[in-house]
Amino acid sequence: MSEATEQVISGLEGILACESSIAYIDGSIPELSFRGYDIHDIAQTLTFEQVAFLLWHDRLPNATELPAFSTDLTQRRAIPEQILTLLRAIPPQAHPMAGLRTAVSMLGAMDPRADDISPEDNLRKAKDLTAKMPTIVAAQARLQRGQEPIAPDAGLSHAANYCYMLSGERPDATTTRTFDTTLILYAEHETNASTFACRVVTGTEADLYSAVVAGIGAIKGPLHGGAIDDVMRMLIEIDDPERAAGFIDEALAARRKLPGFGHRVYRAGDPRARQLRTMAEKLGQARGDNKWFAIATVAEQRMRETKGIIANVDYFAAPVLYHLGFPLNVFTNVIASTRIVGWSAHILEQYANNRLIRPRARYVGQRGRKLN
Ligand SMILES: CC(C)(COP(=O)(O)OP(=O)(O)OC[C@H]1O[C@@H](n2cnc3c(N)ncnc32)[C@H](O)[C@@H]1OP(=O)(O)O)[C@@H](O)C(=O)NCCC(=O)NCCS
Repeated sequence: MSEATEQVISGLEGILACESSIAYIDGSIPELSFRGYDIHDIAQTLTFEQVAFLLWHDRLPNATELPAFSTDLTQRRAIPEQILTLLRAIPPQAHPMAGLRTAVSMLGAMDPRADDISPEDNLRKAKDLTAKMPTIVAAQARLQRGQEPIAPDAGLSHAANYCYMLSGERPDATTTRTFDTTLILYAEHETNASTFACRVVTGTEADLYSAVVAGIGAIKGPLHGGAIDDVMRMLIEIDDPERAAGFIDEALAARRKLPGFGHRVYRAGDPRARQLRTMAEKLGQARGDNKWFAIATVAEQRMRETKGIIANVDYFAAPVLYHLGFPLNVFTNVIASTRIVGWSAHILEQYANNRLIRPRARYVGQRGRKLN
């Protein structure tokens, strides 16, 4: 078909842009599964390393493959000195997502095989970025606090090492499991805006780094991954559970779009938010600070009652990351550093069955104008 249809679908809502076997979403139930496994089972049972393997290979690793895969990731964690130099050179007022975007682009520029788009080499790059992006994000968080970056610890799991590189302390089992599950819940989410951006770039047969940089650019936006730190700012602004309902009423009266609420696909609830809600509550209890959870639940209820709008994944993830000690302005970086798994799974899938992605626009401008 070469001619375009006449109808423009605003925001491409409901449009099927590709075939995929990575994540399944039914927003009406709501249901989310990765490679056929329900997200709730995954969140309660698997580790980040198992989920990454699953998303890339369409099956779980066996007892021999898992330790080998984990070691492979572990050995890729260290970042080159040039990247640390680059991070130090980024102006302090720049958003940390600009720093991450630049660092990933630099890793691509430093890779002599950047333009090798074979599945084997793309998988190598996927593992490399999955292992290195947390090291970059933790270094960013420390540098902005005037602290020196901490080298990765090969004796720790992906999630535990991430926490360690942030704080310099080996996390306890609850902290590790909470963060591991958070990383899993964010690892993949079908053709959301950033993943679609990755697929569009891949469709031109550009290299994986270029596609990932596009994904980082897209997820930075406040309608996408950029909402998560805005959620925490909002909870801080509310400050008191007693004020939460009134805050929502005033914000809605002023026609404010509230971060952490609403979703293009889930209208009946976000299954990831269900998991994160429990985690935020438990973590708050463990830390002896349930204020953020209390504010969040009152505001959530008010939003549901008055507008019927659901809390999305970012809503309860914000207090979780806050309790885990991440600075607010790197929350989106943390999300990008785990969504790399889903992005690269989609990039691999797109390369495997590629056709240039090139939609049409319905022209509404003038025609036939004369220059004199
Ligand atoms: C996620 C989001 C971009 C989805 O956008 P969308 O599918 O285009 O949804 P719409 O903007 O069409 O919203 C439908 C209605 O709900 C309202 N709405 C949606 N999200 C809202 C929010 N967060 N706060 C207030 N109202 C909201 C819209 O104003 C609109 O109301 P109207 O019909 O009276 O105009 C949107 O909900 C949003 O901006 N949320 C806040 C940012 C966020 O948390 N992003 C992370 C997503 S995981």
